Amino acid sequence: MGDSHPILVGTNPLGGTESLTYASYLGLPQLLDLQRSQSNPPEHDEMLFIVIHQTYELWFKLMLHELEKVKREFSAGELYGSLHTMRRCRTIMKTLVGQIDILETMTPMSFTSFRDRLETSSGFQSSQFREMEFLLGYKRPGMIKHFKAGDPATELIQRRLGERSLIDHFYDFLQQQGVVIPKALMERDVSQPNVGDEAVQDGLFRLYKTRPDLVILFETMTDFDEGLQEWRYRHVKLVERTIGAKQGTGGSMGVEFLKKSLFQPVFADLWAFRHKL
Ligand code: HEM
Repeated sequence: MGDSHPILVGTNPLGGTESLTYASYLGLPQLLDLQRSQSNPPEHDEMLFIVIHQTYELWFKLMLHELEKVKREFSAGELYGSLHTMRRCRTIMKTLVGQIDILETMTPMSFTSFRDRLETSSGFQSSQFREMEFLLGYKRPGMIKHFKAGDPATELIQRRLGERSLIDHFYDFLQQQGVVIPKALMERDVSQPNVGDEAVQDGLFRLYKTRPDLVILFETMTDFDEGLQEWRYRHVKLVERTIGAKQGTGGSMGVEFLKKSLFQPVFADLWAFRHKL
């Protein structure tokens, strides 16, 4: 970022009178002070482990921000807006998958050297990942038990559970494109997971045949969905090569538990009729 970059112009958002710098705008002193090893003396690879997870959480934060925008764009019937934002989400997802390569440079022995220090902390407790699943319509209410009651993060997940998912907003969009969405689907209990629906699939099939402009959006959503499934697969393999058949620090059976969500799409309707096309 150069000196004349527009985001560096202005007063300090923290209320000070000093002009912004690259470091103060980005909060770098705070950000770069957050990589705290639990191992003592610090194990070399624990830095990698912390930085990777923090980076994921930052991407999850952006992803939630972007997916919220897609929801609004769907309900407003904005094809180009939703396509643009969905393309960004798809690209972030590809980055989430690619980052696993970096963590796979850590050997099982290296991870074992500091794993005990993680105690019972686990990706199970990533509230933003769970928010992302719920926002997408992949709702597993049982997962909330891994979070402390009353925590602000737990309340956010609870709120997502009771909110219309991205798929519910997608129904609004399809309805505006002439698809008849069954009343029961529009009035469904939104705290339940979205499941495939034949009427929606029939409507999508017709749009695939007649509306090449919409197909670009649907295929971008399919890319995103495939990306999330890829992430799950790469994560299982990462776990398998790093801890083998050990239980997870979060208390699950580890690899065996994670395998259950493999190959499960979030946008089931977009996968269901492809053999007919
Ligand atoms: C050495 C690296 C890693 C190992 C050994 C590992 C291991 C595990 C295990 C065993 C689970 C199952 C829950 C449990 O019992 O703890 C899990 C879940 C999870 N991990 Fe990882 N993980 C690793 C890296 C990562 C990274 C980099 C992320 C990125 C955020 C991540 C995110 C998650 C998430 C979101 C879950 C919950 C998945 C679900 O419920 O479907 N993990 N991990």
